[in-house]
Amino acid sequence: MSQEQWNAVDRYLSDLFVGSDPALEAALAASDAAGLPQINVSPPHGQMLQVLARSVVANGAPGARKILEIGTLGGYSTICLARALPAGGRLITLEFNPKHAEIARANIARAGLADKVEVRVGKALDTLPQLASEAPFDMVFIDADKEGYCDYLAWSLKLTRPGSLIVADNVVRKGAVVDPASPDSMVQGVRRFNQMLAAEPRVSATAIQTVGAKGYDGFAVAVVVK
Ligand code: SAH
Ligand code: DHB
Ligand code: MG
Repeated sequence: MSQEQWNAVDRYLSDLFVGSDPALEAALAASDAAGLPQINVSPPHGQMLQVLARSVVANGAPGARKILEIGTLGGYSTICLARALPAGGRLITLEFNPKHAEIARANIARAGLADKVEVRVGKALDTLPQLASEAPFDMVFIDADKEGYCDYLAWSLKLTRPGSLIVADNVVRKGAVVDPASPDSMVQGVRRFNQMLAAEPRVSATAIQTVGAKGYDGFAVAVVVK
């Protein structure tokens, strides 16, 4: 199995399940033009985030009404998630880098989602404590610095309610996650995160490996049960 094959299958799945999407394509083009790193979720993964957001029940109806994202970049995953929101729904996304936030705001506006999405600039550990009045969130997507994932999980648990969904990106890191001696601080961050998530009694959780246009990595998904 090769990256070439994963790319071909990702194209096949994107064509089937995502198709031509001018707003997402424009967001990627603007992000590339601004020199942002190409570490956004892939089209099928973005679509999966949207499906998950639509599957969460909030106020007795399908669809997350309040979504929190930690790590915006150019707003690609933000757009995927925000499209799942019902009328009156809201997404808050946290981004450390002001340039990323500016590009994301433009991409989100171009996608017609400016009225539903707020990009808050700052280190997530500084902006998360200001979210108490917006809680509980029906879904959290964790995708910022991997070293902070345990802190982001602790905050996610504070800011959600039973039935909320917590999803985290990049929990496999090309398989390096199995190496306890890895010198990579991102690998150590996701190792601590996976361990914390697995031991957390307030969630039912798992993690899965993924391959595709973004290489070999994985997602963790957890539902808050109490
Ligand atoms: N969710 C995006 C990708 C996010 S990449 C997508 O799939 O489209 C990770 C982002 O987290 C980067 O933009 C980076 O600047 C941001 N980040 C890194 N450390 C952070 C921190 N401490 N607080 C908030 N954002 C942070
Ligand atoms: C990397 C990939 C990501 O999806 C992300 O959110 C952050 C970093 C990376 O490969 O470095
Ligand atoms: Mg990621």
